Amino acid sequence: MTGSSKQRGRISRAPENFLSQEQIAAVSSGRRDFLRQAMIAAAAVSAGAALPLRAGEAAGDPEILDLPPWSKTLGKPVASNPYGSPSKYEKNLIRRESPGLTRVGAASVSFAPLQGLFGIITPSGLHFERHHQGWQDVDPARHRFMINGLVRTPKVYTMDDLMRLPSVSRIHFIECGANSGMEWGNVAVPTVQYTHGMLSCSEFTGVPLSALLEDCGADLKAGKYILAEGADGSSMTRTIAMERALDDVIVAYGQNGEMLRPENGYPLRLVVPGVQGVSWVKWLRRIEVGDQPYGTKDETLHYVDLLPDGAQRQYTSIQECKSVITTPSGGQTLIGQGYYTITGLAWSGRGRIRRVDVSTDGGRNWRTARLETPVLSKALTRFNLDWQWDGSPALLQSRAIDETGYVQPTMPQLREVRGTKSIYHNNAIQTWAVAPSGEVSNVQLG
Ligand code: MTE
Repeated sequence: MTGSSKQRGRISRAPENFLSQEQIAAVSSGRRDFLRQAMIAAAAVSAGAALPLRAGEAAGDPEILDLPPWSKTLGKPVASNPYGSPSKYEKNLIRRESPGLTRVGAASVSFAPLQGLFGIITPSGLHFERHHQGWQDVDPARHRFMINGLVRTPKVYTMDDLMRLPSVSRIHFIECGANSGMEWGNVAVPTVQYTHGMLSCSEFTGVPLSALLEDCGADLKAGKYILAEGADGSSMTRTIAMERALDDVIVAYGQNGEMLRPENGYPLRLVVPGVQGVSWVKWLRRIEVGDQPYGTKDETLHYVDLLPDGAQRQYTSIQECKSVITTPSGGQTLIGQGYYTITGLAWSGRGRIRRVDVSTDGGRNWRTARLETPVLSKALTRFNLDWQWDGSPALLQSRAIDETGYVQPTMPQLREVRGTKSIYHNNAIQTWAVAPSGEVSNVQLG
């Protein structure tokens, strides 16, 4: 489609339809802030302009005719903002806590604003947070990392010790096992920030755990498991099979080119690619090598799924293939018929994304989306699809397929196997309903 042949749909709403300030805050925003764009579009409409602009149509637009202040005055000096921050116009693009989700903020979640992000990397300041006992800004000079248990030489490393060792940098997604958990109950949380925002993707830098286990002479015959332990007050401990520990696990200190953020485990965290977030132990202080699973509270009481027959599904660690459309998504509004890009994210804990299909009629017909590069193993993959909205009701869905051939299930398919009592590991297809008014909302199809 060319710019001149496609009628560009405006993603916003007429001024009389604006949401209340409260709703605006709840609905979230960002660079893809439909509401903000609404104002721009509304201004353009009232000035008689349509998109794409044709010569002469902008006549009379003061933003074209008058030089703005930033073109006529001296700008601010370098280093007046020594650690760069987003523009003041982007202040709505923040992580948000779901009101009432937990009793105290120290044991809570803040969700990443997926609807406002581009590409696959989550800016570190917008990475979701999940703490069981609050976050700490740990003094790196006093932080120690110990490896003990079934090893020839138990060792204690300082941060300096670790940071002089050979390192790797890899891009991986992290998803909390509880992401999309509310959808099990058909709660229909309003926005993608709250349905899928316990998801982020960063470039992590650190030392492969395999190298450190080798350094300590881990007994790889008897040592079938490791236990990872955090330094916060939550006694966060998780068992990881030795096979996985030796594969691609990283003892990481870097995130997106700088040190980890305190909320994400500064100065040291475990990166366990493809595995649910709880195993990515933050403020990592100890790894013990053992001969059996440890059965800690965070793998017996929590992060288990109650099945229809009453059995508990335990030690499920891999985050299965999943995807979601981030724009258009719940809480946003389309203005006018015409062209839109349907965009979203796909990921699989088992490797690369092979294909993403998108439906605009609730799964009756599917079109294959473009996968934007890079398409990396156990990382988010961005997909895009051109769409002409004719103004009629639409049901938007995305369905991801990974390199193992696994196909993301529908919610009824998942419920058939897992029942309705789970909190964790919901990787079902998400549906967004577009009303003739252009309003987009979260729905579940039977
Ligand atoms: N590690 C420690 N030490 N304490 C915690 O509370 N939370 C876990 C995991 N590691 C947690 C932890 C959970 S449940 C998740 S989903 C991820 O960290 C979240 O990582 P993030 O806060 O960097 O997004």
